[in-house]
Amino acid sequence: MKYLVTGAGGQLGREWVDFLKIQKVPFSDFSSVDLDITDIQQVKTVINREIPDIVINCAAYTKVDEAEANRDKAFLVNETGVKNLTDCCIEIGAKLVHYSTDYVFSGHQNDQNSYPDGYPENGPIGPINIYGESKRAGERVLEKSAADWLLVRVSWLCGRYGKNFVKTMIKLSAERDQLKVVDDQTGSPTYTFDVVEKTWLLLQKEVSGTFHLASKGAVTWARFAEEIFRQRGVGIRINRVSSDEFKTAAKRPSFSLLSTRKAEKCGLQMIEWKSGLGLLLQQIG
Ligand SMILES: NC(=O)c1ccc[n+]([C@@H]2O[C@H](COP(=O)([O-])OP(=O)(O)OC[C@H]3O[C@@H](n4cnc5c(N)ncnc54)[C@H](OP(=O)(O)O)[C@@H]3O)[C@@H](O)[C@H]2O)c1
Repeated sequence: MKYLVTGAGGQLGREWVDFLKIQKVPFSDFSSVDLDITDIQQVKTVINREIPDIVINCAAYTKVDEAEANRDKAFLVNETGVKNLTDCCIEIGAKLVHYSTDYVFSGHQNDQNSYPDGYPENGPIGPINIYGESKRAGERVLEKSAADWLLVRVSWLCGRYGKNFVKTMIKLSAERDQLKVVDDQTGSPTYTFDVVEKTWLLLQKEVSGTFHLASKGAVTWARFAEEIFRQRGVGIRINRVSSDEFKTAAKRPSFSLLSTRKAEKCGLQMIEWKSGLGLLLQQIG
């Protein structure tokens, strides 16, 4: 099996590259500079040259707040880019692995009552911001296509590479003695090393379709921040605030939990979010 990774300079893409090296399987990886997935000619040239069996798309427009003012750009990468990859994968018979997000759901607080374990894969779609809409448009491309695809939704992604909440908290704690953190959004911090390993296992099982991969357990951002500092032994005051007190350009879902029952039925066990945090903090050093 030969693999091709797009968006290989991002936090998930870099984790995939490390993982594939350890697996000692043939692969090629392309950052946004080497392969722009919105450029159909470039995508065709690269895919027809590399002839991968599996394309792992880690490329995405992920700037949630900036997407509000850059709708076209978000859709260009998250919808048209996915269409380009899908079309080229069909041509050479490759499987496409694509990542999406909990933000395709509306995340209303009340949904917690209907879905106490989190949204199932076929839960009610209803993004509340442009980023979520653009990611949903990418999902629709796969759902309507004749390609062999594996769509993996993840939430609150954190890893050793790139920017994420854990690294931001650590950086801010070196500069301030107290922090305001939102306490009315619930979700599950999910780790790139776990997502890559579990996606790999899904690929070994040769399954297709949509799967949720998210750590076990649920927490708010504020309680997550407290746990980060507890595990690192940093004494800092966390002021728990509401989303209304912490205005952002894009609205955020209050309830971001993804049910992983379907993955569990395939024999996968996601890590629990606190243990995963411990492993990530060791990696970050
Ligand atoms: N981060 C999260 O909390 C989160 C949560 C749920 C789901 N997800 C999903 O998980 C996946 C991986 O996210 P991530 O956190 O690894 O994102 P990331 O760190 O922002 O990486 C995305 C990568 O895509 C590249 N890219 C952007 N436009 C491109 C284009 N036109 N052609 C090729 N590459 C392009 C970016 O390159 P440049 O930096 O050069 O633009 C970047 O390296 C995405 O599908 C994302 O939507 C993420």
